[in-house]
Amino acid sequence: MLPGDGVGPEVSEAALQVLRETAARFDHEFIVDLEDVGWSAFEKHGTPLPQDTLAACQEADAVLLGAVGDPRSEGVAIELRPEAALLTLRQEMGCFANLRPVKLSPALASASPLRPEIVEGTDILIVRELAGGLYYGEPRGPREDGRAAVDTMTYHRDEVVRIARVAFEAARDRRKSVLSIDKANVLYCSRLWREVVDEIAEQYADVTCDHMLVDRAAMELVLNPSHFDVILTANLFGDVLSDEAAAVVGSIGLLASASVGGERGIFEPIHGSAPDIAGAGVANPLAMILSAAMLLRHTYQLEDEAVAIERAVESVLTSGLRTADLARQGEATVTTAQMGAAVAEAVSEGTEGAQRNA
Ligand code: IPM
Ligand code: MG
Repeated sequence: MLPGDGVGPEVSEAALQVLRETAARFDHEFIVDLEDVGWSAFEKHGTPLPQDTLAACQEADAVLLGAVGDPRSEGVAIELRPEAALLTLRQEMGCFANLRPVKLSPALASASPLRPEIVEGTDILIVRELAGGLYYGEPRGPREDGRAAVDTMTYHRDEVVRIARVAFEAARDRRKSVLSIDKANVLYCSRLWREVVDEIAEQYADVTCDHMLVDRAAMELVLNPSHFDVILTANLFGDVLSDEAAAVVGSIGLLASASVGGERGIFEPIHGSAPDIAGAGVANPLAMILSAAMLLRHTYQLEDEAVAIERAVESVLTSGLRTADLARQGEATVTTAQMGAAVAEAVSEGTEGAQRNA
């Protein structure tokens, strides 16, 4: 577990509590090793990704990561910034596929900024390419003594093939529809992307495949969020669209993610370190808790345990518990720790069984 920066340690603590209850109820033992990453690691060790942290991640079954980022790092060289640690970690661990489920919780239809009839039924899986594209392309860096700068978007067809396969496989377990999002009217990378996705689509005759330009997709996500099933897209587009999708279903504090494709996965909320509220005990721990559920499912195939956590989250939301990000004006709020404790309790009581029978 890499709690990281800002609200990372608070939400990590809540997730740990839920994992402890899950272990107790299902008779498991989870061995959790805490390591430094991000700004907090930089302050202690002079690097945001110490060798020990990387080695520990490579030895563990999986990595559960809170958040990285700190405003104090703004003056620091880009390769020493907390974000660089995350990008290196993803790359070192071979995690090229980032799965971001975006599902409206029925209890939260009113937390969405969109009208309930628009947001109702939203259930999207964003499959974001995570190890290539504009985030990693060379050359990159400042030019002309800082008066210019260059970043490079590169994709090799093999990178598109492997991420497309992940999306089509995932679609088979869902509503069997993949929407690939690109900017093929302008970018060469996107033209290659489209061509390769169409090739892979032929191998999945049971799954429909469509393409959409990213600007239109940004609009459709707020107009018709429930029309999307699996979204397949490149690194940068996925980064942008997933924050938008998170807001559509109520709060970025809700969205979990799994970065997979390597031998072991990294599981992390899609939100950042939120330095403005760090230490205040008001952050929403649900994204982190749901990331722990994804970890159990993807790493250990512990489906019942993952579902128990997901149902526990749903049950506390149904019972009306709201962290500040979810509360509407006048609604009472709970702290990070209270929300974590409530989910842990719901797991231990097996509230989801009660719900199923209700
Ligand atoms: C995310 C984050 C990261 C990204 C940052 C922190 C580097 O925004 O996981 O979406 O851009 O991938
Ligand atoms: Mg992001």
